[in-house]
Amino acid sequence: MRAAVFGARGGIGAALAAQLCADPAYAEVWIGSRSPLPATTPSARPFTFDSDDEASLAAAAAAIGGELDLVLVATGLLHREGLPLPEKSYRALDPAAMAELYRANTIGPAMIAKHLLPLLPRSRRAVFAVLSARVGSIGDNRLGGWHSYRAAKAALNMLVANFAIECRRSNPLAVIAALHPGTVDTPLSAPFQRGLPAGQVQSSQASAAALLGFLARLSAEQSGGLFAADGTRLPW
Ligand SMILES: NC(=O)c1ccc[n+]([C@@H]2O[C@H](COP(=O)([O-])OP(=O)(O)OC[C@H]3O[C@@H](n4cnc5c(N)ncnc54)[C@H](OP(=O)(O)O)[C@@H]3O)[C@@H](O)[C@H]2O)c1
Repeated sequence: MRAAVFGARGGIGAALAAQLCADPAYAEVWIGSRSPLPATTPSARPFTFDSDDEASLAAAAAAIGGELDLVLVATGLLHREGLPLPEKSYRALDPAAMAELYRANTIGPAMIAKHLLPLLPRSRRAVFAVLSARVGSIGDNRLGGWHSYRAAKAALNMLVANFAIECRRSNPLAVIAALHPGTVDTPLSAPFQRGLPAGQVQSSQASAAALLGFLARLSAEQSGGLFAADGTRLPW
């Protein structure tokens, strides 16, 4: 089998890539990041891309070439130094910060889909999954806050639902899914871990193992949904 991981330098993306590279079922694992990664196993195929640069996505798809059984998109952004993020109030909204989160969490994964969905096989099972977040569920929103991040992930969840409908005709066995990885110990969640109940924060290795286990069981009938790593379907 052949897989590709976009965002293989991130906390969760690196763990997903490592576990796929160690899996003998995968002959090739394309591991994509903004700066080059080493090939640590014979199956590893490093490549560079930036989801803001569509030409780099076209080049990645051309390099990968043939069909992919699994595409994982593990890119995303919640905060970075210099931006007033994540917002606790509408008073903190800043158009440039908002645009950056939309670019990283919605437009980037959508552009990856544009260039990688054509590599899914048409007559056998394949999976295209993006890391979204439970906070992007409108139906599950009880706490509010984190306006731009929530809105960007909600838009991503809508695109996943749309892509699933579109691909049902051309790739009836394909599964397209948005995933909530849990609260995972990575640079993205680090500033927000204080005060969380013990045991709520999991390692990226545990999250990746749960996600891969769950994705192996997901069926085409479930395509388009937002799922937690334990397989629970979350409301949009
Ligand atoms: N950690 C959690 O608790 C948690 C919870 C819910 C959802 N998620 C979601 O899970 C995903 C992965 O999060 P993480 O915790 O692993 O975060 P992370 O460690 O910060 O990794 C995010 C990755 O995204 C990459 N990235 C950002 N913008 C990019 C761009 N324009 N082009 C290419 N790559 C780009 C970064 O690349 P560089 O390495 O080059 O900066 C980084 O490797 C995100 O979508 C996040 O929203 C995480």
